[in-house]
Amino acid sequence: MLLAEIPDAEAAKRVEVAAFCWQILGQTDFTRSDAIIGLGGGATTDLAGFVAATWLRGVDVIHIPTTVLGMVDAAVGGKTGINTAEGKNLVGAFWAPRAVLCDLDLLEGLARNEILAGYAEVVKAGFIGATEILDIVEADVDAATDPATPQFRRAIELAIGLKARVVGEDFTEQGLREILNYGHTLGHAIEHAERYQWRHGAAVGIGMVFAAELSRLTRNLGEEGVARHRRILESLTLPTTYPAGRWPMLLATMKRDKKARGALLRFIVLDDIGRPTTISGPDESLLYSAYQELAD
Ligand code: GLY
Repeated sequence: MLLAEIPDAEAAKRVEVAAFCWQILGQTDFTRSDAIIGLGGGATTDLAGFVAATWLRGVDVIHIPTTVLGMVDAAVGGKTGINTAEGKNLVGAFWAPRAVLCDLDLLEGLARNEILAGYAEVVKAGFIGATEILDIVEADVDAATDPATPQFRRAIELAIGLKARVVGEDFTEQGLREILNYGHTLGHAIEHAERYQWRHGAAVGIGMVFAAELSRLTRNLGEEGVARHRRILESLTLPTTYPAGRWPMLLATMKRDKKARGALLRFIVLDDIGRPTTISGPDESLLYSAYQELAD
């Protein structure tokens, strides 16, 4: 077994780091009967998956995520990639891992705010389908977010189960998989506005409040459904508001992202808690109204 240490967090997702890994694989005669193991957070497993997808046109990869975000999102589903100067995840491949091993003991020592930020993706899975997660958080948020409890284990299993089912049906994101982007259209724009200094979950949390408000304006989600978003995210101490004056910049970023994908501006919204659907090209006045509800 050979160990290659790579930089922490997003600094791992660079072509130079991929080249460093390719060099090691080349120098050690790594073959198709060998396997890469990605051990670390989401950036590490994204990079390990990308190296596995590209080496010898694809070798096995096994992920061992060490963060909540990695366990419920990044390591599951086979999206791999690196960043370029022009944007995040612009180079990559869909490459399914042979296995994902989630050992909750690995979360020991992880900062509490890292767990809470990662938990945004856990409750996202609740809002879009695995609603039992929301009940678990509402019953006892401390137990739900403590890796030593059965409640935490159950919530993680439910989130992974939902994601595995969705990507099992739509691996290359032709349709259904898009629901996993709930809260992410605005969330990504906020991450960009914050120069990627915010934790992903914090930005996605605000994005989910926005998506909930948009759901109320365009679909059937009621006031209580929207309030439930705020209550749950606030119980996780995640932000639910963003400065009013930033709207023009956020809208411009969302439009630019949309152009990169050659499609209309799209949002995942809810007909009800646990019932996601997509809206495409919504009226800008609706987007503005939804934003006003979370603007501070
Ligand atoms: N994180 C969204 C997806 O895996 O499709």
